[in-house]
Amino acid sequence: MKVLGIDTSCDDTSIAVLDGNRIMVNLVSSHLAPGEFGGVVPEYASRTHTLLLYPMLTSALRTADLDVSDIDLIAVTRGPGLLGSLLCGLSFAKGLSLSSGKPLRTVNHMEGHIYAVRLSYPHIEPPFLVLLVSGGHTELHLVEEEFFYREMGATLDDACGEALDKVGKLMGLGYPAGPAVEKLAVKSRNPVKLPRPKPKDMDFSYSGLKTAARNYLADHPGTVNEDMASGLQEAAFDHLVDRVCMAVEKTGVEKVGLGGGVAVNKRLRTKLIETGHRQGFNLFAPPPELCTDNAVMIAAAGSARFKEFGQSPPDEPAFDRASLGGSTQ
Ligand code: KG4
Ligand code: ZN
Repeated sequence: MKVLGIDTSCDDTSIAVLDGNRIMVNLVSSHLAPGEFGGVVPEYASRTHTLLLYPMLTSALRTADLDVSDIDLIAVTRGPGLLGSLLCGLSFAKGLSLSSGKPLRTVNHMEGHIYAVRLSYPHIEPPFLVLLVSGGHTELHLVEEEFFYREMGATLDDACGEALDKVGKLMGLGYPAGPAVEKLAVKSRNPVKLPRPKPKDMDFSYSGLKTAARNYLADHPGTVNEDMASGLQEAAFDHLVDRVCMAVEKTGVEKVGLGGGVAVNKRLRTKLIETGHRQGFNLFAPPPELCTDNAVMIAAAGSARFKEFGQSPPDEPAFDRASLGGSTQ
């Protein structure tokens, strides 16, 4: 089955075609607003999605040597994300479905990240844990069985990537700062010591770490960027690893998937792999291009949902906040 995937949840326009487990084409266009804004500008993102969707669809089909008539299913993100951005992709997908007669399946973006793990490791079967770490989300889910998710923890304030971006901004790094923080950190000789967050249960919190980093930089104006980058990464990632260990211990589940933009970071992967060796869990981390936002994962999740629940109604709305929960539709 050839599935066209479309994701416009934030500021990346993504279009992909998946044939079974084979990725035929995976296009992502990152279109950050001009530098002076220093972050995502929702209106700019929406307008750019509108401009890019049609040419990217044409390009994707040409690359895969396909016509719209060869597509069996259109899968599109319906949330969570920026409402304006979501509506661009969802409206485009609905129009394409109506004009081509191809079925439409809407998908929760976070479930898409979980299906990136399933696509990368086809033998992985529930139950397994998934840690999703991006600029907008820091969540730990237990996949109890297919389509049934239990949230073990989520951030109480900032997301992990958001904290890296905000401290990186104070350090004079561009947006998003995560990749620059990773590059600097490997050159550190004397990492800054920062406190490890310890919120209740299995939740996450990054605002305290962000403030601690800001205060440290104010009190130590000569701080070398490399040392702050490394100290920041260590504290931010120790917090993630700590929550994963708690979840493994509590559930007895020893398979841990990973997703989101921060999951690209090699230091985070190494920490999770090494801790897994000590604590008895295995890490299932997709390749970087399937960790960051992409439409392959939306095609994979859409395909699974379509097989189980059929197509989505044509009046399906977009949701800026959409919980994963146990879902039967
Ligand atoms: O999943 P994503 O591409 O977009 C959304 O947030 O939806 O994640 C972007 C986040 C940003 O905060 C960025 O700084 C972070 O992922 N990021 C990284 C790295 N690459 C991207 N953080 C640490 N190390 C990286 N190599
Ligand atoms: Zn995402």
